[in-house]
Amino acid sequence: MYDWNEIALNLAKDIEREIMPLFGTKKAGEFVGFSPSGDKTKLVDKIAEDVVLEYLKPLGVNIVSEETGNIDVGSEYTVVVDPIDGSFNFIHGIPIFGFSFAVFKKKKPIYAMLYEFITENVYEGIPGEGAYLNGEKIRVRPLNEKSISISFYTRGRGAKLVEKVKRTRTLGAIAIELAYLARGSLDGVIDIRNYVRPTDIAAGYMIAKEAGAVITDDRGENVKFRLDATEKLNIIVVNDKKLLELILESI
Ligand code: IPD
Ligand code: CA
Repeated sequence: MYDWNEIALNLAKDIEREIMPLFGTKKAGEFVGFSPSGDKTKLVDKIAEDVVLEYLKPLGVNIVSEETGNIDVGSEYTVVVDPIDGSFNFIHGIPIFGFSFAVFKKKKPIYAMLYEFITENVYEGIPGEGAYLNGEKIRVRPLNEKSISISFYTRGRGAKLVEKVKRTRTLGAIAIELAYLARGSLDGVIDIRNYVRPTDIAAGYMIAKEAGAVITDDRGENVKFRLDATEKLNIIVVNDKKLLELILESI
């Protein structure tokens, strides 16, 4: 019925055309209002989201988007999007930001795409089938305990964890960091600030999970989230249970 791959790709390209002229400019960062989760919406967020709404509304699906919140039209499909993950990076000329697109049918995950604008890489997650980078299957990498690399968002909690790993890379676009983990570039992505929202992680979650990642909350339990733009979450995503144990001991 819906070709989600085509819809997501079209949207990514439409957004790209509208926003890229503003990359790294002051104008991109103009304040335009507050999102439902209380974050500041910047001009670039608004431009990207307007593209999303204009495209998706005629399709008659429910939409959950970061800046507008929930639009429930009673469809069995819900599309959870973050038009730009990594807005700060975009505004300040740091080339790590993406478009995050996740589809649920009757609340069950069925398709995810993450488009990374600068590299033009397309990551996909198809529940029960696998995770892909530009059409090729991807997998998390095996853990090497002597050379652990993580992305770690904290406000101090568990800070000692950094002494137990070799590298930390906190890149400011969690959806992309989850895709990097899925392709075997990182061993863990941890955010324990009680801050990320379902819109930030819905696609990255599906992609990482299909690539073999273990995903829990900050107590080692299953992460449950509503299809909603306001919920705040803690999340631990790793390539191996041993790393999960190390993290849970430290936080
Ligand atoms: C942000 C990024 C960042 C994470 C924040 C998010 P945004 O998304 O994903 O990595 O630390 O929690 O809000 O606001 O740029 O879409
Ligand atoms: Ca965003």
